[in-house]
Amino acid sequence: MIASARIAAAPVRPGCRPAGGPNGDNMDQREFARYEVVDGVAVITLDNPPVNALAPGMREGLMAGVERAAADAAVTAIVVMGAGAHFVAGADVRQFGKVRPVSTRASAAALEACAKPVTAAIDGYALGGGLEHALACHYRIATARARLGVPEIKLGLIPGGGGTQRLPRLVGPELALDLILSGRQLTAAQGLALGLVDTVVDADGYEALRAQAIAYAGQVAAVRPLPRVGERTDRIAAATSDPAFPASLRKAAPAKSLKLLAGRHALACVEAAATATLDEGIALEQALFNELENSDESRALRYAFSAEREAAKLPGAPVDARPDPVRSAAVIGAGTMGSGIAIAFADSGVPVRVLESSAEALERGLQRIRDTYATRVKRGSLSQPAMDECLGRIRGVMQYEDIADCDAVIEAVFERVDIKQEVFARLDQVMKPGALLLTNSSAIDIDVMAAATGRPGDVAGAHFFAPANVMKLCEVVRGPRTSMDTLMRTMKMGRDMGKTCAVAGSCDGFVANRSRTPMMTELMLMLEEGARPEQIDRVMVAFGYPMGPFAVNDISGLDVSYEGRKRRAAANPDYRKLHVPDRLVDMGRKGQKTGAGWYRYERGDRTPHVDPAVEDIIGTVARELGITQRSFSDEEILQRQLFASVNEACRILEEGKAYRGSDVDAMWLHGFGFPRHRGGLMFWADSVGAATIYRQVSQWHEAYGPRWKPSALLAKVAAEGGQLRELRGQAEPA
Ligand code: COA
Repeated sequence: MIASARIAAAPVRPGCRPAGGPNGDNMDQREFARYEVVDGVAVITLDNPPVNALAPGMREGLMAGVERAAADAAVTAIVVMGAGAHFVAGADVRQFGKVRPVSTRASAAALEACAKPVTAAIDGYALGGGLEHALACHYRIATARARLGVPEIKLGLIPGGGGTQRLPRLVGPELALDLILSGRQLTAAQGLALGLVDTVVDADGYEALRAQAIAYAGQVAAVRPLPRVGERTDRIAAATSDPAFPASLRKAAPAKSLKLLAGRHALACVEAAATATLDEGIALEQALFNELENSDESRALRYAFSAEREAAKLPGAPVDARPDPVRSAAVIGAGTMGSGIAIAFADSGVPVRVLESSAEALERGLQRIRDTYATRVKRGSLSQPAMDECLGRIRGVMQYEDIADCDAVIEAVFERVDIKQEVFARLDQVMKPGALLLTNSSAIDIDVMAAATGRPGDVAGAHFFAPANVMKLCEVVRGPRTSMDTLMRTMKMGRDMGKTCAVAGSCDGFVANRSRTPMMTELMLMLEEGARPEQIDRVMVAFGYPMGPFAVNDISGLDVSYEGRKRRAAANPDYRKLHVPDRLVDMGRKGQKTGAGWYRYERGDRTPHVDPAVEDIIGTVARELGITQRSFSDEEILQRQLFASVNEACRILEEGKAYRGSDVDAMWLHGFGFPRHRGGLMFWADSVGAATIYRQVSQWHEAYGPRWKPSALLAKVAAEGGQLRELRGQAEPA
């Protein structure tokens, strides 16, 4: 097929895209692959901003371009490149699970089979299907900013465009498996050292790279035979002749990766690269890729990818808004949270001042920061010079005047309304106009703090999760008077710090903690009714959490939430007290730090041991409360916790305190380590079904009383159908 009619001969206006649906449907290939001939070199430019993900029509456009160049006697060589700042960041994530008329497998095969030399010219990202296309080209040149990788594993997939077969032939099976299982990105220099690219060129921007690529293609135009990666055997020969190769390859794979189906399938494919023909290997890759594409695990991981990006979108924000970045920051309070936030700023290259009122507290905080960095260097995750650079960005100060010129200030002082109000009144006096006035409070009404200032529009929440330098969630809390500009700048600040940001309205506990509290309550109450900590922990580990909630609580310390419960009980006569953890704390069982908590610990050992003393305490509490203990099935344990949270999340959406059901998922994934292969709380809930959940919640409402009152929104979805993850907050957070 000659496709000249289907490809614009003249360059299409960069960035011009048809109005495809949100899923990238109905897109016309003519817009995505431009074709031109310069000095006998055909240049095919793939154009789908922002990252040139392979939308429907792009592979077809690429193949048509190759065909056209092959048929044109005036063309001696071909260049494939991406418009804008990137080559191709992979298949369009939204297209998985849908029928694709042309696969990456086919378009990559067409590139490799071409009788004229094809050069991939790589700038920015060449990931997944992008790198697979590049591997099928005969030559690869890259700019210094190129990033190369096969991240499909993060979506529960394996490379499906011949990558599992060509990568081992180019860099050897062991390294190929490592790249596929880790999904990590290589720099151009690393790619050059490994033979993944042929040369690194000094080119800044599309035009410069295009010129260099045309020159390079001209130089290799006459070279024959064409270097086809699929035909190479030199890097796999040793493995092919080694009967112990399959076993040694398996041994090289991290056990954690092989727990996932995608990991096991990747291993099988890489093994086949050395032990079978290219065609057999590609056929195996295709079969296993198809299986993965339709797996629950991959569906959940793909959803998680989209949910966390969707969470960053602000309904009502001007489309052309370019919020100013935060170039300097201040943190008030050098406690655990304050220190963690300061580290997160410093890690992202932002200079930060840490303010404390006493020299001792300041020194304690700065020492905590130094210790954290020193541990990283000791573990090998950070170099000494990088640590010095980060520490150089952190400065301790004791006067408010010393932070006045910062672009943003985050207050992380003790959770007491009067103290917070005092801090905000002081900030109002000293901070430069336009500075972001942010609070890391986990529960206090944003407007109460805003009211202490003369600029309530500049006040918002930036709620980080402990440890703030590790956990990726930044819950951006919007008070009723927070301006859109403040919201946009705070979201950008969080994102620039490497966090996943999502918006919450101002309410007790905001969205993340508020939706999680019922889960924590139910697991404590199930103890009184007869469940055991070790059983609950086992159920949650089987569900996918790395550790059970009680084992985690022993690490974080049972005393952390103790004061909060006391405060809530004092403020609310209907508050249902959690007697078991309170009693453990009263007995001095605060977790690992005291050698006992929910479990008992041997000196110098962190292995939890079931402790009959805990069972006794639980039994005593149950007797005192007149509760008859019974046994729990694993299913009931799981549902009792998670259904309670699903119901609360629906209530939050009902009240308009979150934009989307999927934002709850982004928060649970990055704030609480919810198993990513389950997608998130609401995604998981949809797998159970809103009607099933509503029925059970209603039954528990009858059995346990008001705390289980079904959310009206849950009832609505149960009755009318639909997905909980697609729910939208009925009003903007206020
Ligand atoms: N398919 C569809 N859209 C993609 C995409 C893909 N493979 N990769 C990125 N995008 C979109 C994002 O959704 C985002 O869109 P938005 O601005 O409308 O939210 C935009 O490109 C920028 O991505 P983002 O992740 O916000 O930017 P980043 O610079 O932090 O990271 C990547 C860029 C490419 C590293 C990251 O997006 C990524 O890992 N993408 C997936 C790559 C992948 O898995 N490829 C293999 C599939 S075969």
